[in-house]
Amino acid sequence: DTAKLLIEPSNTLSALQEAAELLKNTNDPVAFPTETVYGLGADARRTDAVYSIYKAKNRPADNPLIVHIASLDQLRRLISKGQPLKSKDSDLPDSSLIPQIYKPLIDRFWPGPLSIILPVKNNEHPPVSPIVTANQPTFAVRMPQHPVALALMALSDVPLAAPSANASTRPSPTQAKHVYNDLQGKIPLILDGGSCGVGLESTVVNGLCYPPVILRPGGVSLEQIRDCGGVWVNTQVYKPTAVNTEKNFIPQTPGMKYRHYSPTAKVMLFLDYKEREAMDCLYDQLRQKNMDKDEARIGVLCSRKWKKEVFGEFSNLTFLDLGEEGSEITKNLFAHLRELDLKGVDFVLVEGVAEDNEGLAIMNRLSKAASMVFTKDSPS
Ligand code: TXA
Ligand code: MG
Repeated sequence: DTAKLLIEPSNTLSALQEAAELLKNTNDPVAFPTETVYGLGADARRTDAVYSIYKAKNRPADNPLIVHIASLDQLRRLISKGQPLKSKDSDLPDSSLIPQIYKPLIDRFWPGPLSIILPVKNNEHPPVSPIVTANQPTFAVRMPQHPVALALMALSDVPLAAPSANASTRPSPTQAKHVYNDLQGKIPLILDGGSCGVGLESTVVNGLCYPPVILRPGGVSLEQIRDCGGVWVNTQVYKPTAVNTEKNFIPQTPGMKYRHYSPTAKVMLFLDYKEREAMDCLYDQLRQKNMDKDEARIGVLCSRKWKKEVFGEFSNLTFLDLGEEGSEITKNLFAHLRELDLKGVDFVLVEGVAEDNEGLAIMNRLSKAASMVFTKDSPS
């Protein structure tokens, strides 16, 4: 029952049609590119289809999925199911269905990397399968920007429940081959749209509470969201909680319930550390593990300042540059983590970034991937 996995150039109409047929007529999920990361999609209205996503990813059943739509009309039809339509042909769902706070965000960021939380109003005719929402009274929805994602939903007329197309706990996939490596034998089709432009997942916002909150920083920055009005609060602030002394580090608190973006290697994240200081921390780790510095396979991810030469004393070194601009770093981050994993490195040293603009989402993902965070800040 291991279906054959096809990777098809998604710009061909026949590949899109094949994918659309699978989504309409089977319960098999299809992997497709979005501008953020690859998604694993199935008809959000059909429980059997959505179940196959959880199964392929080995995803815990209580972690809800984001619903993707191709147009506001598709969203309107979804959420007004079983209700008399108030507005006749208006493109925008009426405001009893979409809270006012989202209007400027939808205008500015859709299609794009923003997911909003909406109420499931009508329990008799819920818009999506209860396993999409993990039985919560809300669901997340976004209109992606990638032409393949939009074409797929338009062609099939299927609203897609779609988490990132990685195996649960692995870094999100930003290339078709990442999906292949994680899910081969478990899904029938991957549409290959090349590398994802954003590289980190969408920003998830909840405007149903006061103050409105950012549940997950992502492709749209907190600054951009606040620019549209509203006292948006970030619930995912990365807070250093200990002072680094010689070999002190912060064990990653399981603040979030699930392991995320975990490479096999031990990831050591450094905030405002010079190369030499970071290497000293690594030497502590090597000593603790009785590892020889020439045996240990070391990966380094630099962002802005670290230089390769300084790490020259490690003979078994893979040095990867994330880039300097926030948008370069987001695009490279998950692919580089996966590359280091394939190299089988034992330790990854990462140069952290400031938490403004793209930096907030970058540090959020990095601190989840890290098993140790080294900081010079005082405990809060
Ligand atoms: O960019 C993205 O958002 C990608 C692409 C494929 O669109 N999708 C994605 O899905 O990242 P996933 O499943 O990996 O992450 C979905 C996030 C989870 O953190 C989940 O907890 C949250 O959205 N979420 C979904 N529904 C929610 C709800 N009703 N309330 C609160 N959080 C919700
Ligand atoms: Mg995910």
